Amino acid sequence: MLPWLAAETQTIEKLNSAKKRFEPAHPSHYNGSRNNQLKRLFTARRDFLAVWRKVDYSERISVSNLIGRQVTVVNSPEHIKYVVATRHENFERKSPQMRRALEFLLGDGLFISDGETWKNRRPLVSDIVHKHRVPAFGDIMKNTSLELIERWTALGEGAPVNALYEMAGLTAEIIARSVFGTDIGEESAGQVTDGFTSYQDLIDSINIGYFLGFDEGLPALRTPSLRRSVKRIHTIIDRVIEDHLAGKGDDNSMVELLVRRQKKNPELKLDVVALRNEAATIFMAGHETTAATLTWAWYLLSNAPWIEEAVHAEIEAVCGSNVPTVADVPNLKMCTAVIEETLRLYPPVPILARQAKEADKVGDTDVKKASLIMIVPWLLHRTPSLFKDPDLFKPERFLERRPTPYSYIPFAAGPRICPGLQFGLTEAILCLAVLAQRFKLRVPKDHKVEPQCRLTLRPRGGLPVTLHRR
Ligand code: HEM
Repeated sequence: MLPWLAAETQTIEKLNSAKKRFEPAHPSHYNGSRNNQLKRLFTARRDFLAVWRKVDYSERISVSNLIGRQVTVVNSPEHIKYVVATRHENFERKSPQMRRALEFLLGDGLFISDGETWKNRRPLVSDIVHKHRVPAFGDIMKNTSLELIERWTALGEGAPVNALYEMAGLTAEIIARSVFGTDIGEESAGQVTDGFTSYQDLIDSINIGYFLGFDEGLPALRTPSLRRSVKRIHTIIDRVIEDHLAGKGDDNSMVELLVRRQKKNPELKLDVVALRNEAATIFMAGHETTAATLTWAWYLLSNAPWIEEAVHAEIEAVCGSNVPTVADVPNLKMCTAVIEETLRLYPPVPILARQAKEADKVGDTDVKKASLIMIVPWLLHRTPSLFKDPDLFKPERFLERRPTPYSYIPFAAGPRICPGLQFGLTEAILCLAVLAQRFKLRVPKDHKVEPQCRLTLRPRGGLPVTLHRR
């Protein structure tokens, strides 16, 4: 038997025999009447994860009429495949609620575009964040994590911090350096990051107007402070792009790659605004999600010390006393399984909402034109017929066997699958390994963790932890 396979088998056996279990936080099933849609709507407004009944966690398609609008929840791998892959073109359009929330900042950026714009831009963005480019960003990931270690060390043993804000700072710094390069300057990078943070804080994830049946929803609140955030972000990104167009700026950055692509393919007609929209999209899509993943991973490890021990043992076996690097990631199987299990339990994008372009039939269900289709990774990943003990934290399940296709979709699936999948996975695994080699994080015993669904799925109020040096 290959040595790593033997080690992995031993780890699985050890974890299986440990007979320890941890059931991380999740809301209880909704038990209000199905007919009281108003109550459900208000529950959704407060907590989108609390509207699901026990029956919703099964392989099925369910249709409801929410104040005059058809809403179809698709929760079976076969039918998810139909929606996101087979009939992708009919279901590629994001919900008006999503477009409205983001278009002020991202314009026609890939995340919210569809049709011809999406088709033209997708290869461009995919190429820039493609897996073969990821190793080139490995040093940024490692070094930024080491800077965080330095800061944590200076705070002293047992220092209290909020893990969500720490991880948000870390991943924002990594994506800022990757997208704009290191030439942008600390002050401008800080301003872009702060601008994105305040934009995201200001945007509410659910536009109730849409659910109330207005076609395009109520206008998102463009407050003066939101306008200021957006203007600041746009001004800085435009300056960076203009520098690159003029031949100045960091050669290894993603903006440089975008600009080079435009020069090579002028028929793409990417002006400064289009380039800015794609840079802003990568920036936004590329850090909140990874920050949420890492935060949830710390929460899970803090409550499952037997898994944490396996993680530490693996880092020691693979890296010894060296700092983990991007080249080690393929050998960090347990760290990978922890991240994969974290993404199953707490998918950072817990709902994929689409608007049907034309009437269609999903399974036996007639879907009306413009109806809302919801694929809910939160439900799918906790469906007992697809995942045994779905509410338990058991990373070893990913070492034992791979999930069936379209049953595990933290990065979505089909042509619109997250192009930053490899970047995000590698970043989460590497940052976890670098930080876990030096620190343990502990959530105070009396702190109640509650998942909250906003733009991404995160712990309500963040995650208070104390830092302990290893
Ligand atoms: C753990 C980390 C990440 C997760 C869980 C994640 C998840 C997702 C999901 C679920 C979507 C599809 C959303 C939808 O269709 O409604 C998406 C799209 C996207 N992601 Fe990620 N993502 C992650 C990291 C990244 C990174 C690091 C980047 C860039 C460097 C990135 C760039 C994008 C872009 C540009 C899109 C839009 C793609 C399109 O619409 O064609 N993501 N991501």
